[in-house]
Amino acid sequence: MERAVRKVAVIGAGSMGSGIAAQFANGGVPVLLLDVAGPGEDRAAPARAGLERQLKAQGFMAPSAATLVEVGCIEDDLAAVANADWIVEAVVEDPAVKRRLFARLDALRKPGAAVSSNTSTIPLAQLTDGASEAFRRDFVITHFFNPPRHMRLMELVTGPDTAPETAALVRDAAETVLGKTVVDCRDTPAFIANRLGCHWMSVAAIEALRHGLTVEQADAVAGAPFGVPRTGIFGLLDLVGIDLVPLVWGSLLGALPGGDAHHRHDLTAEPLIRRLIAEGRIGRKAKGGFYRLAPGSKAREALDLATGEYRPQADAAANRDLAALIRQEDAAGRYAWAVLSNSIAYTAAVAGEIADDVAAIDTAMRLGYGWAEGPFALADRVGCAAIADRLAAEGRDVPPLLAAAAAQGGFYRRTDTGRETRTTAGAWTPARRPQGVLDLAEVKEHGPRFAGNGSASVWDLGDGVACLEFHTKMNAIDHGILAMVAEAAERVPAEFRALVLYNDNPRAFSAGANLGYFVERLEAEDFTALERFVADGQAAFRALKHAAIPVVGAPAGLAVGGGCEVLLHCDAIQAHAETYIGLVELKVGIVPGWRGTAELLLRWGRRTDRPAGPMGAAQAAFETIAGARITGSALEARTLGYLRPEDGITMGRDRLLGDAKANAIALAEGYRAPGVGVVVLPGLAERENLRAIVQGWRQGGRASPHDELVADWLAGVCCGGPEAGPQTPIDEDALAALEREALSALVREPATRARIRHMLDVGKPLRN
Ligand code: NAI
Repeated sequence: MERAVRKVAVIGAGSMGSGIAAQFANGGVPVLLLDVAGPGEDRAAPARAGLERQLKAQGFMAPSAATLVEVGCIEDDLAAVANADWIVEAVVEDPAVKRRLFARLDALRKPGAAVSSNTSTIPLAQLTDGASEAFRRDFVITHFFNPPRHMRLMELVTGPDTAPETAALVRDAAETVLGKTVVDCRDTPAFIANRLGCHWMSVAAIEALRHGLTVEQADAVAGAPFGVPRTGIFGLLDLVGIDLVPLVWGSLLGALPGGDAHHRHDLTAEPLIRRLIAEGRIGRKAKGGFYRLAPGSKAREALDLATGEYRPQADAAANRDLAALIRQEDAAGRYAWAVLSNSIAYTAAVAGEIADDVAAIDTAMRLGYGWAEGPFALADRVGCAAIADRLAAEGRDVPPLLAAAAAQGGFYRRTDTGRETRTTAGAWTPARRPQGVLDLAEVKEHGPRFAGNGSASVWDLGDGVACLEFHTKMNAIDHGILAMVAEAAERVPAEFRALVLYNDNPRAFSAGANLGYFVERLEAEDFTALERFVADGQAAFRALKHAAIPVVGAPAGLAVGGGCEVLLHCDAIQAHAETYIGLVELKVGIVPGWRGTAELLLRWGRRTDRPAGPMGAAQAAFETIAGARITGSALEARTLGYLRPEDGITMGRDRLLGDAKANAIALAEGYRAPGVGVVVLPGLAERENLRAIVQGWRQGGRASPHDELVADWLAGVCCGGPEAGPQTPIDEDALAALEREALSALVREPATRARIRHMLDVGKPLRN
C-alpha cells in the first residue's frame, strides 16, 4: 500500500508545535499534540494551553478544525505516537533534550513512520548522532516558519541515510495537507532563509549606520526598491524583537566558520544594538525600538541613530528603480549599493554550500522573508554584469557563480522548451515544478490568448480547459470584466470542455464591483448608467451559470461583493484555504445585485441544515447578507453557504489552478447545464419578521439607521417580493428583477453615496 500521512503526532505545544498541529487539522488530518505534563490534575494542561493559544490567534481556519487535535502529555501518552505516520518534534532547541526524545520515539513509533525535527539551528548529523539505523532512514528536518498557518515556506533537510520514501512522504504531506512550498536545503547552519535573511538584516542595519542614514531613509531604501516588505530593516528589527539579536545572530555566528562574511557584519557587536537591549528598547513588544509611539500621545517617533534619542518621524522616499538608485551619488545611493553588493556577493558565494539551484534560494527568501523576488532574480533585474563589473572595479571578490551569470545572461532564462535556472555550480537546469502544480504565468508565456481585453483574458490551459483571468487592480469588476465573462460564456463552449475562473493576484480573486465607477456615475447623478451596469452584470453572470460547459471558480484571497457573486454562479468551487469570501454590499449601502442574493437564496433553499419552511431559506440568506461578514477561511465559508460541502479546498496556493483544472475535467463528463432555479420563499407577509432581526441588531448597537433601510430592501428580495408565497415558488429571474429594483432605489439614497465614497477613500465602511 502506498504510504500516506493519515495521522500525525506533534511533540511540543509551544508557538511552533501548536501552530503546526493546527495547520494539520486545517488540512483535515487528525493530530495528537503532546507537551510536558502539567503540575496539577490536568496533566495535558500545557498541550491544551497551546491549542487554546492557536484558537485565540486564529491558527485554526475554523474553530471546528480544533476538534481534530487531541491533547496529552509526553509522560502519560507518548505510546499513542504508534498511530502516527509522521511525528513532528517541536520541543525546546536543545540537542540533548531532542535526542533523548528521539530514542523514546524510536522505540514506540510504528515501522516506517517519519520523524522530523523543527530545529532552526541544530545540524541533522548532530540530531541523529547515536540513533538506530532505522531511525536515521526515517528522519528529516522540517523547518517551518512562524506562524505555521500563514508562512508558506518549509525547509526540508535530509541526511545521507534518509530513505527517499521518507523524504517523499513528508514532502507530499507538507505540500498537499499543509499547503507548504518545500525547499530542499543542505545540512548547514540556519539552512537557507535564515542564513541569508540574517545576513541581509545585519548588512542593511550596519551599513545604514556607516553611511549616516536616518532610520526612515534606510527603511525607504532597503524596503520597496529591494522588493522587501515596507518595514525595511529597522521596522523589521522592531517587529522581530531586538532582544533576539544576541540569541539568533549569536548562535548563527557561533556555528559559522571565522571566514564567513557574516562575521564582517556582526550585529551582536554593534554598540547601538547593545544599548537598546540594555535599556529595554527592544521593539514593538516593548516600549518601542527604532520606532515608537510617543508616550502620552500617539505621535510616531523615530530613533536618532547618532544621539540615541527619539524625535518625530519624518517622511522618506527612495527611487524604486534599484538599478538607478545604486548609481545615485548620494548617501542613499551608496547605501543601496552597499546592501545590494554585500548581499548578492554573499549569496552567490555560499549558494553551492546551501542549495542545489538558485531558484531554491530565491523561493526561500520570497516565502520566508516576504521578498517580492529572491536575491538572484533581483540581481537579474539590476543586471548581473553591472554588479560583477562594479565589484571587480572596487577590487572586491566576484564569486564564480555571479561571474558565470554575468558572462552568460543572468540566473534565469526562457527557452523554447520552458524556463531554466542555474544550478549553484553555474550550469543551466530546467526549473523544477512539483507534480500537480500548474502555473498561469507559464501558460501565458506560451500563449496565445484565446480572448481578452484590458481587464480580463481567456487562456488555454490544455486538455480542453480554458481559464478566465481577471487582471484589474484588486480585480475590481468593471465593464471589461463583465464583457469578457459574457464573451467567455458564449465562445468558450465551442472550443473547450470546461472553464476555470482563476488569477494569480496575491491579494484578491476579486474585491467586487469597481466602486470608482459607482462614485463617478453617482456624482454625475447618472443613475441610468448604474442601472445598466447592474443589468450587464446580471446578464453576464446568468450566461456563465447556464453556459453549455461546467465552470469552476478558483478563488484565493479576497472574494467579496461582486467577486463572491460571480463564484455563486459557478458549478463548483475549488478554493484556496486562505479565501476570504462574503457578500458585503450592505457595507456600501446596497444589496447584492448581480444575482448574488438570488443564488444564495437558491442555495439555502436546497440545504437541509436550516430552519424548515419557506422562512428558512429567506432567513438564512437574509442573515448572511445583512451580517456582511467576510469569512476567515474557505473552511468557514462552508458554514455561511458560500461553499457547498462538495466544493473543494486546496491548501497549497501553487496547487490551486491544477486542482481546479482537474475538478473541471471531472465535471465535464456528461455535463448538463443547470435549468432556471426556483425556490420557495414566504412572500412579503413575512418581511416584518426579517426587518425585526436588524431592528434587534440596531438596539444592540450593531446596526445603523441606513443599515436598517438597506436591510428593509434586502428583506423584500429575500421574501421573494409580492408574487412569492408558500405555495408559489419563485424563479431566479424574478429574484434578479427584485434585486434590480432594490438597487435602483438604494443608489438614489445620499447615505448610500456617502458610504461608497467613504469606502473608496478610506477603505473602511462608513456607519451612517
Ligand atoms: P516554545 O518555547 O514556544 O515551545 C517549546 C515547547 O517545548 C514548550 O511548550 C515546552 O513546554 C516544551 N518543552 C520544554 N522542555 C521540554 C522537554 N524536556 N521535553 C519535551 N518538551 C519540552 O518554542 P518554539 O518557538 O515553539 O520552538 C520549538 C522548536 O521550533 C525549537 O526547536 C525552535 O528552534 C524551532 N523553531 C522556532 C521558530 C520560531 O519562530 N519560534 C521557527 C522555526 C523553528
